[in-house]
Amino acid sequence: MFQPQNKEGTRTMDPPYCVTLRDIQEAQRRIQGFIHTTPVMTSASLDALAARKLFFKCELLQKSGSFKIRGALNAVKSLPYDNCTAVVTHSSGNHGQALALAAQMMGIPAHVVVPTTASKCKKSAILEYGARILDCEPSDESRAELAAQTVQKTGGVLIHPNQDPAVIAGQGTIGLEVLQQVPGLEALVIPVGGGGMLAGIAVALKAIKPDVKIYAAEPVNADDCYRSKKTGILTPNLHPPITIADGVKTSIGPNTWPIIRDLVDDVFVVTEDEIKSATRLVWERMKLLIEPTAGLGLATILSNQFQEKTRDIQTIGVVLCGGNVDLGSLDWLHEPLLNRN
Ligand SMILES: Cc1ncc(COP(=O)(O)O)c(C=O)c1O
Repeated sequence: MFQPQNKEGTRTMDPPYCVTLRDIQEAQRRIQGFIHTTPVMTSASLDALAARKLFFKCELLQKSGSFKIRGALNAVKSLPYDNCTAVVTHSSGNHGQALALAAQMMGIPAHVVVPTTASKCKKSAILEYGARILDCEPSDESRAELAAQTVQKTGGVLIHPNQDPAVIAGQGTIGLEVLQQVPGLEALVIPVGGGGMLAGIAVALKAIKPDVKIYAAEPVNADDCYRSKKTGILTPNLHPPITIADGVKTSIGPNTWPIIRDLVDDVFVVTEDEIKSATRLVWERMKLLIEPTAGLGLATILSNQFQEKTRDIQTIGVVLCGGNVDLGSLDWLHEPLLNRN
């Protein structure tokens, strides 16, 4: 799958994907100074539970409260400014929030199509960053349709939350950072929704250090990536998934699928209870207020399936992808949780 090393000592990809290592390096230069280099944190007690050394990449501490600002800002900063009247997107929250902030930073209006089911805190942040919200039904089709209509009406540019190459390249900058912060990294576990983050990081890591394993983490209730990898055919979710991990309800798509198909080593699915339990563990042991979508990585690592399949891997990174928790919605905290000891 890989061509020989080029003169910079990195590998180039064959077949060509919608983003290259060079796009990701350029994205890093473009957004540097506008975003945080997020810290990597460790926890002795979680290492003991996982029986490995874990490194948590804290994107919950990123501007806008999630990694999404990386892709949104790279996309907005790549636009031809003279012609750009506005930006438009559809998002269950974090990309909308990030695009609103990116547009505000660059002084252009943003219109964000948000499903009626999106959390209140994500919606109010979008408004606070000065964007306009348009409500739609919670399905991929309804989101895409209203966004297309809004592009027509406003003359704005559509920035897709996970299939836009500039977005994928921006998310890939997480991979460049993690490799510098954890030089001995053997594997990275990444939550997957539309696959922008997973694909971007996979391109970066497999080009620079192909031995690093890339594992995707997905709720069993939204397992399109798992089923696609298993069958070798892009297989979107048929119905809007019901999961507490609201950032990953969307399905992988035509730009992210070829990268995921070729470069991702394995996909693991976890139950709602496993996600809740892992989220709570991160709150309690690390004092980090992650949103449940960000609990997917630890939930995966603690799952029996992962433990059995990856026994020989000792140094594992986990992307804690966001921290936009709707504190008003935490009634599930009172439910009995899995035995964690
Ligand atoms: C916190 C969080 N994690 C993960 C994802 C999934 O990202 P992607 O759609 O690039 O796979 C999202 C998407 O909205 C998100 O908000």
